[in-house]
Amino acid sequence: MTQPRAPTMPRLQIDGLHAGYGRSDVLHGIDLQLGVGESLCLIGPNGAGKSTVLNAVFGLADIHAGTISIDGLPLQRRLGAAERLGRAGIAYVLQDSSIFPDLSVEQNLRLGGYLMRDAAQLRQSVEAILDRYPKLAQRRFEPAAALSGGERRLLEIARALMMKPRLLLIDEPSIGLEPRAVTQVFETLHGLQRDGLAILLVEQNVRQGLAFADRGCLLVDGQVVKIGSGAELRADPAIGRIFLGAAA
Ligand SMILES: Nc1ncnc2c1ncn2[C@@H]1O[C@H](COP(=O)(O)OP(=O)(O)OP(=O)(O)O)[C@@H](O)[C@H]1O
Ligand SMILES: [Mg+2]
Repeated sequence: MTQPRAPTMPRLQIDGLHAGYGRSDVLHGIDLQLGVGESLCLIGPNGAGKSTVLNAVFGLADIHAGTISIDGLPLQRRLGAAERLGRAGIAYVLQDSSIFPDLSVEQNLRLGGYLMRDAAQLRQSVEAILDRYPKLAQRRFEPAAALSGGERRLLEIARALMMKPRLLLIDEPSIGLEPRAVTQVFETLHGLQRDGLAILLVEQNVRQGLAFADRGCLLVDGQVVKIGSGAELRADPAIGRIFLGAAA
């Protein structure tokens, strides 16, 4: 006899979100859901509010209305970034590089575990990450400045994993990378998703982003205009024309 399936709680649920900076709203009523081990790619023109969605989830934008829940628990608006990372299990790889070039690969990784009080736990986490990513292990004592762009992006992702997040927010993972490095970054993200991590990403490289993610979401002027599978979004004539070139 088959077991009745337990209803699955979305990892991330955003309802009626109005958020911005100071008093002004950038997002005007956003609803989004992301399941466990699911990926969703936000696309849209510059200034549409894509990064602001990630900022709002991580507590870096001001929430004026609506709720953001993780595994069914609403996030308190006043939770700081450290609590979001530790308690709520949210990690954020920002649009701009946040690697410390003069610090070694290992020191950069250790910064990802800054909330860990226990030195043994911190060491263990660093070793687990280095076991997972031999490319970083080989360079662990070198300054991060010596890494290629793709390796640096990998280091940023690896550092975000130090606190064993349940939800990864990642803004423009492919920006500034050569095509081979872009492929490697998306392979890394695929590996994490296979392990159950939910991934909310923003990607200017719409073709790559939609090919990677389970679903895509077009954001324009702080509102969701279309949401669907990558194939559905790619088939939309407006998206094809604006983001993928006429031949798409
Ligand atoms: N820290 C901030 N303080 C005030 N306004 C901001 C801040 N960050 C973004 N904005 C404004 O919010 C709006 C949306 O910006 P956001 O960065 O979310 O867009 P985006 O879709 O990520 O754009 P891009 O593709 O250029 O990265 C813009 O008008 C921007 O000027
Ligand atoms: Mg942005």
